[in-house]
This record gives sequence, structure tokens and C-alpha cells, in this order.
Amino acid sequence: MSLFRKKSLDLLMIQADDSEKGLKRTLGAGSLIALGIGAIIGAGLFVRTAAAAGEHAGPAVTLSFIVAAIGCAFAGLCYAEFASMIPIAGSAYTYAYATMGELVAWIIGWALILEYALGAATVSIAWSEFLNKLLEQFNLGSIPYEWCHSPFEKALDTANVMHYGYINIPALFILLVLSALLIKGTQESAFVNAIIVFVKVAIVIVFIFVGWKFINPANHTPYMIPADAPPALQPDGSMYSYADTFRHGWGGVLTGAAIVFFAFIGFDAVSTAAQEAKNPKRDMPIGILGSLVICTVLYILFSYVLTGVAPYTDFVKSGKEASVAYAIETYMSGYGWLAKGVTIAILAGFSSVILVMLMGQSRVFYTMSSDGLLPKAFSDLHKKFRTPYKSNMILFIFVGAFAAFIPGSVAGDLTSIGTLFAFVLVCVGVLVMRKNDPDRVRPFKTPLVPLVPVLGILVCSAMIYSLDNRTLLTAFIWMLIGLVVYFGYSKANSKLK
Ligand code: ALA
Repeated sequence: MSLFRKKSLDLLMIQADDSEKGLKRTLGAGSLIALGIGAIIGAGLFVRTAAAAGEHAGPAVTLSFIVAAIGCAFAGLCYAEFASMIPIAGSAYTYAYATMGELVAWIIGWALILEYALGAATVSIAWSEFLNKLLEQFNLGSIPYEWCHSPFEKALDTANVMHYGYINIPALFILLVLSALLIKGTQESAFVNAIIVFVKVAIVIVFIFVGWKFINPANHTPYMIPADAPPALQPDGSMYSYADTFRHGWGGVLTGAAIVFFAFIGFDAVSTAAQEAKNPKRDMPIGILGSLVICTVLYILFSYVLTGVAPYTDFVKSGKEASVAYAIETYMSGYGWLAKGVTIAILAGFSSVILVMLMGQSRVFYTMSSDGLLPKAFSDLHKKFRTPYKSNMILFIFVGAFAAFIPGSVAGDLTSIGTLFAFVLVCVGVLVMRKNDPDRVRPFKTPLVPLVPVLGILVCSAMIYSLDNRTLLTAFIWMLIGLVVYFGYSKANSKLK
């Protein structure tokens, strides 16, 4: 049946060997972990932690991080098996093509657009918030609300005047700069990445150490939001109620997990560097799981301190944007320098996340286009720079439209759903592959199969389910559009045909 035609693993390996001629195997386990952390720590931690705490989980956002980490660990173990077994670019899309056939591969590829393209949009929106914060911190004025928010947002200023967003210009700006960099082929070298990772991790650790002294135990009591918590004030002057099942208690923790799940996205990006790893069979699992473990520990401590320093209700209104700098400036007197340092480090950190996301997206497009499932433009290389420049330009328009006109929380939730969906399918892929090709050499084996993949499917599905209906509906429509494109174009143009 042509819908389920598969790419043979042997063919994939031959392709990997071919393309290997162009790529140097330079990355060891340490660089892979650094690459992972470079792609992982970003808006999820510095922006969405506060959103999840303020609107759903309260201080128990630490538990949300644990739930999200468990889901990621199960999926990460499945990724590790594939990445060590099929060490070539394309990540989840490629694994699906080899295990579950073309239609499922297409569906994953389409879902990965949500992950990478909308991920880049989300982080660029966060970049815009922190740029404004930076201008304010250095008394350089600020960008008017209208020009750095989507038309779906509004807020009251201090004089009680309502402002409505038009377009998010700074988010567009950073996307333009980074897309131009990618076209020019300026690779995010391991060295630059290592510096950014060092700065990001250092800032997180300093915040944890310094902030620990400012934890007010009252902010951690009760630890979960009670069902009868009084409503909190929102930026537009209306009240935010905690009555809904997913806005307090364990329901809130679960929704919080789906929101902060965003903070873990990127560990799978390590798998896209499989062709550049020195010893992928050993180092891929270390890179994927190592970066995941380090980030989990940092996240739990960080969120514990953040919700201890500021009451979670603050994050519904004034501390909603640039929450870390807000918490330091408001509750940690004498540490203005830290607030400034945090803002600068976060801006740099966000840039590397956006870059990796845009790059990951263009690689997935490149692979899908080489397979004939997308038009050739997505794999056309620039004569001089040898980069998929047309793909990068189309991507800029697409990502830019989201960044300019959609609120960060909406783009972020769609990113999470796309990624969670890809994770579920990777877990299914491990089960399918174990059955269909049991004798293939697996340098890293997912432990306790079928338990681990099944739990991965369950936890990730539960997080999908807990996202709000609007996000689920939008993602569903996106997937339907994907099917129309597949049956209208890709199926007939597939190279496997
Ligand atoms: N994990 C990345 C971030 O938090 C996408 O920004």
C-alpha cells in the first residue's frame, strides 16, 4: 500500500554515508550536551515558568517540571535508540519513514513544523519582551506597546489608558537577522554555542544561589493553588479565575506541565546533529539524555526560587513579561546588576535557541524536499553559500507572520502540541521497529520495552489532552491542512514512488 511505503534502513545508511563526505565528524559527547543545552534553555524557562505558575500551577510548577521531565525522559530514551541506530539527519521524520511508512512520516514532518517554526516564533516574541526590558533598564525608553504586541493583545498602562497591539516589530527584526545569518551560512560554531551555553547556565545558577536567600516561605504556602483561590488581576484590568479544573490543584500541575514542556524542547535537536557526531552510537544517547538531566535539575531549582521570591499571582499581571528581571527588581533589592545581567544573557540565549530552531526546521524541510514530499525549492542550495536559502526565506515569511501577529502563549502551546505529538510517534516507532526488525544492531537500547515507550505515549498524550481546546482545535486544523497537501501534492511526487 503506497501510503505505508517505507524507506529502507539500508538505503538510509547509504545516504548517510554519501552525505557524510560533506560533513565533518567533530562533535564529542561534551559538545553534544552543550548543543542540547544551547537549544533547550530559553523562553520555556525564562518566560513560560512564570506563566505556568501564575495561571495554573502556583509554586507547584516545580511538580509540573517533574511531570514534563518524565514525559521527556521516556521519549528521550526512545529518541536515543533511533539516534544511535539511524545516525542521520531528519530526526523523528526520518525514523518514521523507516518504521511506519510515508504517511506517518509526513504527519510527523508536518507536526515538526509546529515544533521548530512556531518554536522559533515563540522565542522571538519572548526576545521582543526582554529587549523592551533591556531598554527600560538602561533608561533608553521603550518600544510602544502597539508595535511590540500582536493584535490579539491589549493592556492598561499606569495611567489607566488601554493599549492595543498592532504588530510585533522586534520579533520580526530578530527573525530577519538570524534568517540572514543562516542564509549566509554563518554556522553556529561549537565555540560560540559553548560561550552562550556557559553564560546561560551561569545566570541560572547565580539566580538560584542569590535568590535562595530571598525566598519568602509564605509564597510557597499552600504549595498548590487551592480551588477557592481568589481571582488575580490581569494586564487588561479583568480578573483571572482559578475555578477551572486545570487552573488549580493537580489539574493545574498537569496543564502547567504541558506549558513548561516547552522548556525541554530542543533535546531532540541533538539528534539532528547525528551526522556530525564523532561516535554517534555512544555519544548520541549521552548527548540527548545528558542535556535532559542537567536541564531538569536546573529547572526545578530555578522554578522553586522564582515562585519563592515572588507570589505566583504577580505573574498574572505585572510580572507576566520578563518575569525573572521583574522578580529580581521587585523583591531582591540591591541586585539591580543581576537583573541587567539576566536580561542580556537571556537575549543572547534566546538568539541561539531561535537559530537552532530555524536551522532544525530548514533541515527537516530539506530532507522532506529531497524525498520529493515538498517542492524542490526547499532543498535548492545557494550557489555561493551552499545553504537552502529559498527555504530560509519562505520560512522567514511563515515564522514572521506568526511572530508578528500571534500572542506568544498561543504560538508556544502550538509548539508544545506539535512536539508532544512527534514524541508520541517516536515512542510508537520504537515498538514497531522492535517488532518488524528485531535483529538490527541497536547500539543503545531503550530499556524496559514495551513499558518505557508505552509510558512515554501515555504521559505525552495526557499533556496534549490538558492543553486548552482552542490549541487542540488549531492543531487539528493544521494537521488536516497537512493531509490535504499530502494527498494533493506529496504522495504523487514522492521519490519512493
Ligand atoms: N526549549 C526552548 C526554549 O525554552 C525551545 O526556548
